[in-house]
Formats: sequence, C-alpha cells, structure tokens
Amino acid sequence: MKTINVGIIGFGTIGAGVVKALQSKRSYLREKSGIDVNILWICDKDIKSKRPVKVNKKILTTSIAKVIYDPKVDIVVELVGGISPAKDIVMESLRNGKSVVTANKALLSNFGRDIFALAGEVGLSVGFEASVGGGIPIIRAMKEGFIADSFDLIYGIINGTSNFILSEMVEKNISFDEALADAQAKGYAERDPYLDISGGDSAHKLSVLALLGFGIAAKSTDIYTEGISGISREDIEYARDMGYAIKLLAIAKRSGSEIELRVHPTLIPKTHLLADVNGVYNAIFVKGDMVGENLFYGQGAGALPTSSAVISDIISIAKNVDVSCCGGNKPAGQRLNIAKSAPGIKKMDEVRTRYYIKFLTPDKPGVLAKVSGVLAKYDISISSVNQKEGRIGGLVPIVMMTHESFEKDMSRALREINDMKIVNKNIVRIRVEN
Ligand code: HSE
Repeated sequence: MKTINVGIIGFGTIGAGVVKALQSKRSYLREKSGIDVNILWICDKDIKSKRPVKVNKKILTTSIAKVIYDPKVDIVVELVGGISPAKDIVMESLRNGKSVVTANKALLSNFGRDIFALAGEVGLSVGFEASVGGGIPIIRAMKEGFIADSFDLIYGIINGTSNFILSEMVEKNISFDEALADAQAKGYAERDPYLDISGGDSAHKLSVLALLGFGIAAKSTDIYTEGISGISREDIEYARDMGYAIKLLAIAKRSGSEIELRVHPTLIPKTHLLADVNGVYNAIFVKGDMVGENLFYGQGAGALPTSSAVISDIISIAKNVDVSCCGGNKPAGQRLNIAKSAPGIKKMDEVRTRYYIKFLTPDKPGVLAKVSGVLAKYDISISSVNQKEGRIGGLVPIVMMTHESFEKDMSRALREINDMKIVNKNIVRIRVEN
C-alpha cells in the first residue's frame, strides 16, 4: 500500500468537497487503487468559517508556505482559483519537488506554457482534469484515450451557468435578467457572474482544450469571445421558429493550416445533439481522425463532480510517484508537451460562418432593399428573410439568415447598415453552426 500525502490549498466549495470525499471514501479508494491518500494540510485564509465537513483542527493552516515547503507533502492541490496567489503556489510547489493538481482554468489559460514547461524541467506532474467540464473526464480522454488521434474539431457547451440561463429563458419564456437572477438564487451563478456570462470562463477552458487538441498555447485573450447577455427572448423564439436552438459554444476548429478558436452564442439545429444539453450540464464534442466523433456529457460544475475529477488526478499522479526514494516524489508519464510547431490561430475576420441577423426598423417601403443592397455589396448572400408580426417599441423586427460569409465582410456590412440610420442601433448578429 502506497501512502500519498496531500496538501490542499483552498477550502471553499470545491476544497471542502474534495476533503469530504477523501475522508468518506478513504478505504474505498485504498481498495480500488492501492493508494492511501492522507490529507496532511488544509490551507485557507479563512479557517474559522463553518464547512460542510469535519476536520482535525491540527491540519488547518493559513500558511501557504507550511504546505508547499513541507518535505512530507507529495502533492499540492491548488483550489484557490484566480491568478494570484495560485500561480505562485503552483510554480513554487513544482520547484520544491511537489506534483500539483489544479482546477484553475484561468491560471492554465494564462500561464499554462510556463507551468507545463517548469513541470517538464523538474520532471513532475500537473493534473488538471477538473479545469474543464467538471467531472467529465475529457482531459484524460484527450491526453491518453485519444493519444493516436489528431483533431479537426473540438467544441461544446463548457459553461454550466450560461447554459442554465439560456435553458431557463427557453423553458420559462423569461428574460436574460430574470434567468440570471434565478441562476444566482439557485447558487449556480457567482454573485459576480461576469466571467460566466461574458464567455470568459468558456474561453479559459477552450484554451486548455486547444492546448491538448492542437498543441496551441493560446491565452484567453487570443480567443474571440462573446457572451450571452445580448440574447433576448425574441431571438430564442425566432431561432426556434426556424428550427434552431441558441447555445453558448466554445469552438476549436481546424480551418486550412490554422485553427479557429472562438466562444460565442451560436444557432445550432434543434436536431443537433448539443441542442438537448440543458441546465447546468456541459457537453463536449470531439472529432479525431481515427476515433471519429465522440460526445462527452455530464455535470460541468459543482462540488461533487469537480471533486471527482480532482481525486482522479491525485490517484493518477500517486500511482506514478516513487515514494521509496529522494523525498518521495518522482512521477512519470504525466507531463504535457506543448507542440514545437503548433498551428496558428485564425484571425476572427477570416472566419466564415452563416449568420442570423435581427434588426428593428420602422415599417416603411425600401428598408429591406437598402439593407439587402449593403449585404450584396459585401458579397453576403441571404438565405431567408422574415418580417415578424408585432412591434417592439413601435418598430418591426426583421430576421435574416445568410449563407456563409467572411466575418470581416459581415462586420463591415453591419457597420454600414448601422450608419444609414434606417434600422435601430442594436443589430443582433448570431453565428450559425450545423
Ligand atoms: N462557473 C463554471 C460554470 C463552473 O458555470 O460552468 C466552473 O468552471
């Protein structure tokens, strides 16, 4: 039986979930894996507040140093989130001979290159299964299960909060603001839900997937990112009338010699598998050249699913740690190689998609002719036009679907239509994927 000592830094919802599961499943895990996971330290800046788990007070500390410099600690589990002090915790733990498990997608997105390079240098492991898709084992699948595959396409719904909000808007016919309030009341959205609804959280996760799938060390700032706050009830209804659902998708797609990386609300056919992924669930679709199409579905957030992923990393690293020598921490086979010649990221302007366009306009002759004239000027072909019944603020809604065009042409056309002052300023543009 191998005993592995872990130091957990961050005793919030996930931290408490990990501690609770490691305690209650200690003998189960021992039997199943041959590893005895011993919690040596639990560190948090607040060790006074009540948690949903009982722990020995002697292992509680507010000192990060006590954990990362303790020679008995084999694995440091970083669950504080954000960049600071998480980055220092991870880097300094690696420098001090400890492998690391983290759920921190913001950190990996911004500093993954440095972290994995250091882990490679010192021959230690960084486990990050919990960083994308909560309990869904997508990281292990991409790193190990699909080792022989090269990927053309990785995309999915990887933010549960946004998916919950969009699902509620559909099911209850409520506005974005009402659905957001509901998400907050149910504890899904943070009090400051900006990262979730702005698409930022999805972009962080997409950069982790892009690293695994394409070897690209893209920061979230390299990813075109648009959130869901501009989606209205009407857009959902009009899309539904045309046979589409609206989902916040994170997309990594091979396009010629480059990779498209983008996060934005997307119209997908109602028959698409992702159209039925509702509530806080996540789903990730992967297409490999050998394995073909795969779909992963499960809970993308929450203490239990995320703790399940954290513990799988601890056990997986522990299996490779040689505790019989050298202060006990030399793992093998867990490092991640960043491709030496990764493909470039396609400029958003060069991306081609179909579009849903909605604008509000006074109901008078000639408006449509002018709008379609501008679209034609930029070589954008319309596939359908629909003037909706009813008025919004005295204006009529016009919904257009286009054939594929370049993003740059659509942007220029919409700017020109906007400048003509024949439609209201808030032209809605939603990209379409089939
Ligand atoms: N806030 C994230 C979500 C979960 O709503 O999916 C943590 O990554």
